[in-house]
Formats: sequence, structure tokens, C-alpha cells
Amino acid sequence: MKMYLNIGAAVLLSAMALTACGCDARPTNSRPTSDTSSSIVINTISEPNSSSSTSDVQANAPVRSDKIVSENMTIAAAETLTVKSGETLYIQDGAEFTVDGTVNCERGGSIKIQSGGNLLLNGKMTLDGSLELGGFLGIREKGEINGAGLLTVLKSFEDINCEGTCLTKIKAPDPVEKDGVTYVGGVLIVNKKYSVPEDYGAELGLVIDDAYNTLLQMREDTGYSLPLVSGYRSYELQTELFDYYCEIDDYDRVVMYSARPGHSEHQTGLAMDIGELSENYVNTEEGGWLTDNCYKYGFIIRFPKGSEHKTGYDYEPWHIRWLGKSTAKLVYDSGLTLEEFLGVEPA
Ligand code: DAL
Ligand code: ZN
Repeated sequence: MKMYLNIGAAVLLSAMALTACGCDARPTNSRPTSDTSSSIVINTISEPNSSSSTSDVQANAPVRSDKIVSENMTIAAAETLTVKSGETLYIQDGAEFTVDGTVNCERGGSIKIQSGGNLLLNGKMTLDGSLELGGFLGIREKGEINGAGLLTVLKSFEDINCEGTCLTKIKAPDPVEKDGVTYVGGVLIVNKKYSVPEDYGAELGLVIDDAYNTLLQMREDTGYSLPLVSGYRSYELQTELFDYYCEIDDYDRVVMYSARPGHSEHQTGLAMDIGELSENYVNTEEGGWLTDNCYKYGFIIRFPKGSEHKTGYDYEPWHIRWLGKSTAKLVYDSGLTLEEFLGVEPA
């Protein structure tokens, strides 16, 4: 039998003080003391009685030391909340948990942002335990997550808005196939292993609007010409290109720089070739800027130097892939190729 104890605000604050290194964590929306629905309640589960089997107590159910954020609250700038080994901090549906201070999630500790729950990080989180993301995580400009733990994205990368820094390893959801196109956490993946259907992208223009408008913005911000050499390529055009290369070069070489039809990111309208199709482009001022800064605009260098065995392709400092600002920042911070970041094979 489960029994939950909702402790009033005063008790709550002392409980928080104990777990927050003596700091006073106040709910942002102060409520009348008669309202017993406090921002963090400590739930307890009574010992199972003789008539209930141990299976009544589910593995995922809160236990005595768990913390539950059930409505809006803030960890203030000077405060630290520690989630100890064996403890879980639940951020529940409808609750906004703002961290201006610090959260330390120790090894063996766990934070679960449940569906509809929000964690907004302005401060620092040291994640040596686990963070399971079923709701929303906002890493604001000065927010930073680091540590040896794991952030597991349960549904979509759109559930993270990263304007800050995330140096903790991220585990992506499993790939999902829809109408012949594979997505990982909402991110479309095309490579030597994953393809798109022959008619995919036929309705696309040069590239998708967000990517093109961002290219215009990069030009305006930098004054560089950043010429668009190649954007959307149809299955037919990719076939012509690939066949042509095969006429003038060895097949084993061609597959390192040209995608087989159906396997090119250019068919998705999410990729652009910018500047010069030469490795030397990175040594130019413009190409160097693109490599160092495109993530700030929502792109990644899709085939980085020295990652041929991880992406399946030669280094291409000119080929940028649109991911949107937040996901591009996460991939950049990870230092990984898109394949590694998404946990998918290159071929
Ligand atoms: N050059 C890249 C791999 C493509 O053909 O899509
Ligand atoms: Zn390209």
C-alpha cells in the first residue's frame, strides 16, 4: 500500500534546506500557508503490508528520500540542491523548476523531467547521475551541464532548448522510420545506411526556408559572400552526378565523396555546399569562419576532418547541415559526428 505524505510549505523548506546544503529554497510563487500543495513534497511509501505483494511497489515509484517538484519553484543563485545516490528528483507535469544556482546530481542519483514538466537552467548542473528527459529542458545562455552522467532524451531533441552549454553525454532515442525516412529524436538522418525515398523532397525549393534564411543572415552578419554552390538535389540529379563520378574515378573512391542516389543529405533540403568544394576552403578566412561559427547559426560541418570512418565520407569543410540552433549547439558541444551523437551507424 502506498501512502504519500504532502508536507506543508514550512516543513518543505526545512526538508529542502537539508538537501540543499543548508540553503533556503523558496518557491517563486508564494502561496498562502494554508495551501498544503507545496512546491517540493517528500513522498514516502509505507512498508508493504502482508496482503500486498512487493510488486505493488514499482521500481519507478517515489521512495522516502525522493523529491518531487509539483509546481513552480526556483533554486536561487546562491543555493545548491544535491540529488544523492539512490535519490530521484521528479519534475512533474505542469511544474517549472528554475535553477539559478546549482544542482549536483551525484553518481547513482537521478533527475526525471516528466512529460509536461520543465527544467530551466540558468545556473550550473553537475550531472554525475542520470537525467531522463520526458518534458522540457531549457539550458539558458549562462546555463551549463557537465559531469560524467547521462542525459537521456526520451522523445525529441525539440524538448531541449540549448542556448548554453551541455558537456554531458546525451543518449538519443531509438531511430523511428516514417514513410521511408528515418528520424532520431526528430532529427532526420541520411547517410550510407539510411536513405530517403526516390520522390522525397520533390516539393522542396533550393533548401528548406530556415536554412536558406539563416545563410542570408550569416552573409549579412559577416560580410562574407558564402556562395551557395549546391543546395537541394533531386534523386535524379544525384544519380547523374554519382554515375558521372563513377565514369571518371574508381567506385571505391567515389563513394567516399559522393552519396549513392537516395543517400544524399542534399535530397532533404537540409544540406548546403558553401564556398569552394576544396579542403583548402577551411584555410580561407571565410571557410575558417564557417567551420568555427556555423553551429551558432544552427548548422554543423557534417563531415569533419579525421572522421571519415565515423561518417563514411571524406572531409568536406563546405558541406553544412541544418539542425536548428539548439541541436547544432548540442552536437558541437559533444565534439561528435552526427552519427555518434544520434547513436546510429554510418553504413
Ligand atoms: N558529398 C556528399 C556526401 C553527398 O553527395 O551528399
Ligand atoms: Zn554537400
